[in-house]
Amino acid sequence: ADSLRALAAPIGLRIGTAVNSDLLGTDEKYTRIAAEQFSSVTAENVMKWSEVEAVRGTYTWEKADQLVAFAKKNRQLVRGHTLVWHNQLPAWLSSDGYTTTLSNEEVKAVLKKHILAQVRHFKGDIWQWDVINEAFDDNGQPRQTIWYKAWGGTGYIADAFRWAHEADPRALLFYNDYNLEFTGPKSNAVYELVKSLKAQRVPIHGVGFQGHLSTQYGYPDLLNNLERFAALGQKVALTEVDVRTFTKPDAVNVPVNDLAPYAQESYWSRTLKACLAVRACISFTPWGIDDAHSWVPGWFSDPQEGAALIYDEQLNPKGQYHVLQQDL
Ligand code: XIL
Repeated sequence: ADSLRALAAPIGLRIGTAVNSDLLGTDEKYTRIAAEQFSSVTAENVMKWSEVEAVRGTYTWEKADQLVAFAKKNRQLVRGHTLVWHNQLPAWLSSDGYTTTLSNEEVKAVLKKHILAQVRHFKGDIWQWDVINEAFDDNGQPRQTIWYKAWGGTGYIADAFRWAHEADPRALLFYNDYNLEFTGPKSNAVYELVKSLKAQRVPIHGVGFQGHLSTQYGYPDLLNNLERFAALGQKVALTEVDVRTFTKPDAVNVPVNDLAPYAQESYWSRTLKACLAVRACISFTPWGIDDAHSWVPGWFSDPQEGAALIYDEQLNPKGQYHVLQQDL
C-alpha cells in the first residue's frame, strides 16, 4: 500500500514526523521509515537552544544541519522547532525558564541575537518556524518566564516574530502550544493574541496545535477550533500528535482497557480528519515514529501511559498507522 506521504501529496498536505537525531543514519529501519513515510520533518531536540548554544557565543549546528541535509535528500520540508521557549534553555541562560542571573537588558539582547543567528543560519531551509512555544498556561494566563519578566509583559512575542521575519522573510512563522485543541481559556487567550498581533501588523502566519492527546480525556472540539483560527487568516498545523493510553495496572486502580487501541485509533482518525476538513491545515505531524523512542512513557509515568505513536517498539506499523492510511 502507499506511504502516508504519497497518499497526502495529491491533497497538498504534508505528513511529518519528529526525528530523533541519535537514530538517524544509525538505525537503518528507523531511517528508512523516516525517509519513506513522511514529507516533512521536525527536529525532536537538536534545534532547541540548549543544543545549539550550550556554551554562550559558540554555536553548534552540526546535528541540525544533518537533519536539514537528510530532508533535502528525501524531498522533505522542515519545521523549525523552536526559537522562544522556557524549556531546554542553555544552563548559562536559565535552569528553569523562570529565573536567570542575567539582567533584563541582557535577556532582551540575547533573545534577539539568538533569533537572528538561528533563523539566518537556516535561511531558505525552513518551511515553518515555531517562533513561540508554550507561552500560556492552561488557564490562559501568560507564563511568567524570563522573557515575560524581561519585557514586563508579552511584548517579547511581537518582537520575536518581527526578528524572525527579518532574518528569513519567506519562512512561515507559527505560535505553537499544547492543550490548544479544545476551545477554552488557553485557546481563547491564543486566539486573542493572534488577533492583537494581526492588528499590530506583526508577521504571524500560523498556529500549531501540538496534539498531545490521551484516551483518559474526552476528545477535544478540534475542528471548530482549527476553523476559528483559519478564519483569522492563519495557517494551522497539527505539530506534535501522539495519543497515549494507560499501559500498566497500578495501585490507584487505573483501568487498562483491552479496547484502548480502538479508542486511540479513533483519536488519530478524528485528528487527521479535522485537519483534512480545513483547507488552511497544511501539515500533520506525529511526535516521533515508534513507541520505543516516544517521549511519552518517560514524561507521563504516574500513572504510566504510553503506546502513543503509530509504530510499535519493533518499528512495525500499528492499527493507528493503518487508520491514517485509510483516512488519507
Ligand atoms: C520533548 C522531546 O520529545 C523530548 O525528547 C525532550 O526530552 C523534551 O521535549 N512540547 C514540545 C516538544 O514542544 O519540544 C517536547 O519535546 C514535547 C512537548
